Amino acid sequence: MVYDLSNNNPLIGQLLAEIRDVEIQQDRMRFRRNIERVGEIMAYEISKELPSKTKQVPTSLGIADCLVLAEQPVLATILRAGLALHNGFLNYYDKADNAFISAYRKHHKSGEFTIKLEYLSSPSLKDRIVILTDPMLATGASMVLTLEQLYEQGKPKEMHVASVIACTVGIEAIKKSFPDVKIWTAAVDEELTAKGYIVPGLGDAGDLAYGSKMQD
Ligand code: URA
Repeated sequence: MVYDLSNNNPLIGQLLAEIRDVEIQQDRMRFRRNIERVGEIMAYEISKELPSKTKQVPTSLGIADCLVLAEQPVLATILRAGLALHNGFLNYYDKADNAFISAYRKHHKSGEFTIKLEYLSSPSLKDRIVILTDPMLATGASMVLTLEQLYEQGKPKEMHVASVIACTVGIEAIKKSFPDVKIWTAAVDEELTAKGYIVPGLGDAGDLAYGSKMQD
C-alpha cells in the first residue's frame, strides 16, 4: 500500500518546493526544519490509520472524552540522513520508543556500491507498530536491508515506511520483499541516476542537512 501525500496536500507541496530548491536548500537550518515539518505532517496523517481509544479526562468542570492513540509506536530511523525527519515524528509521538540503525553506501572501483549496516539500537519490535523514516527512498537497497534487520528484533504487528521523496524503483523493491509494509511519501519521482540518486529529487539529503563527509 502506498500513500502519496503529494496528491491532496498543498502544504506538503509547499515544503517540498523549498526542500528541492537549489537556492533555498543552501540554508541548512531551513532545510532540516522543512524536512522535520514534513515529518510532523506525515506523523499526523499516519496517526489517522493507527489504533485509537477514548480516554476520560477530568477537567475543572467535568469529564471529557478524548480520542487518543491506543498505543505508542516505535519510531525507527536510518542514520544519519533520517534524523531530521525522525525528529518531526518525535515532535508528535513524543512518548514513542525509538530505534536507530546506520547504513552507508560503500562505493567500489566498478562504480557500483553496496550497503553497509553497522550500528543498531532497538527495543523489541514484537507486536509493536513501527514507523521507519528515511527521507530518500531511492533504490530501496538500504531500506530492504534495514527492514530485514528490524524484523530480526521481533515481528511488528504493523510496519510503516515514511520518506520525503520515493522513487518508483525503491517502492517496488519494498513491495517485493515486504508486501505488508505501508509506504508513506510526500512525493514520487520516477528516475534514478547511475549512482542511485533520485531525479529530480533534491540531491544528497544527508549532506544538505549535516554537511559533506569523507566516507564516500
Ligand atoms: N539519498 C539521497 O540523499 N539522495 C538521493 O537522491 C538518493 C539517496
